[in-house]
Amino acid sequence: MERIPIAGPWITQLEVDYAAEAAEHGWYERAGEWPQQFENAFADYLGVKHAVSLPSCTSGLHLALAALEIGPGDEVIVPELTWIASAAPVSYVGASPVFADVDEATWCLSAESLETCITPRTKAVIPVDLYGGTPDWEAICAVCQKHGLAIVEDAAEAIGSESGGCKAGSFGDAGTFSFHGSKTFTTGEGGMLVTDRDDLNERVRFLRDHGRPPGDRMFFNTEVAFKYKMPPVAAAIGCAQVKRAEELVARKREIFSWYSEGLSDCGVTLNHEPEGTRNTYWMVTALAPADGPDKAKLMAAFAVEGIDSRPMFHPLSSLPAYADADGSGNCTAYSLSPRGINLPSALCLERTQVDKVCTVFKKALAG
Ligand SMILES: Cc1ncc(COP(=O)(O)O)c(C=O)c1O
Repeated sequence: MERIPIAGPWITQLEVDYAAEAAEHGWYERAGEWPQQFENAFADYLGVKHAVSLPSCTSGLHLALAALEIGPGDEVIVPELTWIASAAPVSYVGASPVFADVDEATWCLSAESLETCITPRTKAVIPVDLYGGTPDWEAICAVCQKHGLAIVEDAAEAIGSESGGCKAGSFGDAGTFSFHGSKTFTTGEGGMLVTDRDDLNERVRFLRDHGRPPGDRMFFNTEVAFKYKMPPVAAAIGCAQVKRAEELVARKREIFSWYSEGLSDCGVTLNHEPEGTRNTYWMVTALAPADGPDKAKLMAAFAVEGIDSRPMFHPLSSLPAYADADGSGNCTAYSLSPRGINLPSALCLERTQVDKVCTVFKKALAG
């Protein structure tokens, strides 16, 4: 039986050629060329001042919190509905994550809930552009400004997404991206931290290389820091993907439009795109009706037909990893999550495959 993949990239001869060139020449004094080119092109694409290439988005969140000097005794607010990587770096720096509820329509951090979670210990917020959608950035920025909180935007899933004419990743003090193989834009594994702040850029570059400023030739470390650098071959693939970013986003939007047509008459809710925003639909996600099958049943029905799917993220406070967390006020996240399922969203999908997913989905909903 043909397997319909949940995620996967779109790689052309351009990526192959760039990777081969870096594999042949990306050594000795030329080792830094590809990461540098990738950073420049990425900053241009996003319209930000600085981009720092990294091995992952998780490392970007870690570096951002460390550069903002967040540590033991501090609290950082994270939305309930996201991958654990949005919250884990809070623990890496010794601070405590506090989970806020999400908005019913966007599934992203709710500005109202965010404000109720703020305490004198709160230092920062990590809003997430979930599945390529954006939260109400205007409202979130207003709350953060009022309370003097730093914003680290987790745009791991949202390359090319926009809100009010600005690109995802550019809303906070720093923004972070993932280039994991499942993402719209990939380097295999990889990440980028972007910022308009010169001080954060400088500090992050220092912290990502064992406490050495860029260009240090004396190997004279002034602090114990981290080793978070992107290899040249990955950066070369990124140089090709960034040239094709709009093409990749357009394909994601086309795949979403097929689902939108195919599932228009069966009572499911798909990813939202509020007016004035551009959703890039990293994962097409469907909410079954409240009286419909739960996500585990839907995943089983898809698996029988060779269709890969994923559960919508579990509320972080419901995970054993966060057994001590209190998510009792986060009713929206707890009501959305059991009904949510990610549908195949690989960039190589054909219309006929999406049609098959829609048919199987409707059959499962009908019971
Ligand atoms: C919302 C979110 N944040 C962070 C990450 C972490 O990205 P990486 O795997 O590149 O560290 C991911 C990756 O899946 C993600 O989806």
